[in-house]
Amino acid sequence: MSIALIYGSTTGNTETAAEMIRDELGDRISFYADVNQIKPQDLLGYDVLILGCPTWHIGELQDDWEMFLPGMRNLDLSGKKIAMFGMGDAVCYSDTFLDAFGLLWEELETQGSPTLIGVWPSEGYEFDESKGMLDDKHFLGLGLDEENQPELHEERIQKWTQQLLSELGMAS
Ligand SMILES: Cc1cc2nc3c(=O)[nH]c(=O)nc-3n(C[C@H](O)[C@H](O)[C@H](O)COP(=O)(O)O)c2cc1C
Repeated sequence: MSIALIYGSTTGNTETAAEMIRDELGDRISFYADVNQIKPQDLLGYDVLILGCPTWHIGELQDDWEMFLPGMRNLDLSGKKIAMFGMGDAVCYSDTFLDAFGLLWEELETQGSPTLIGVWPSEGYEFDESKGMLDDKHFLGLGLDEENQPELHEERIQKWTQQLLSELGMAS
């Protein structure tokens, strides 16, 4: 099973998280890139897409994803498994915390019928509202908060990558 790990990052926090995820998954990752270095068609060659997008501009996608997404609209993502991770700030942006998950998935789920994996519990995060929720107890992906909970990244990333491997039937 081939796995691509793609991230967008304006100030480097999501890039650091992407590196940590890459380190956890090791040679199971076939392709690793900043979204501003690739074309939408590049994603078609992989079975699993792990996509990293922080929320920016009060409830918006990160700029490089914003530019990338229109080019994805005609892609058929049927059969692909998609996992999302991203950064947000639950204190300063408590009403739009991790909204990018919702914006990204809203687009992707209409392109064929990809399967979402890597849904993550919202317990342990303090915020008011998020478009990034699957239901009232789960985010659509792994949320990380560099401003307020950086000490939890390592543990969260370790658990989430193990969860992904288990969902993909690749756990050792
Ligand atoms: C101007 C600005 C707007 C932001 N808007 C949001 C937001 O609406 N929701 C959120 O959860 N985080 C928001 N953030 C926090 C960023 O997502 C956070 O700083 C993140 O770590 C940035 O990731 P990056 O370094 O990979 O670009 C915002 C940050 C800034 C500076």
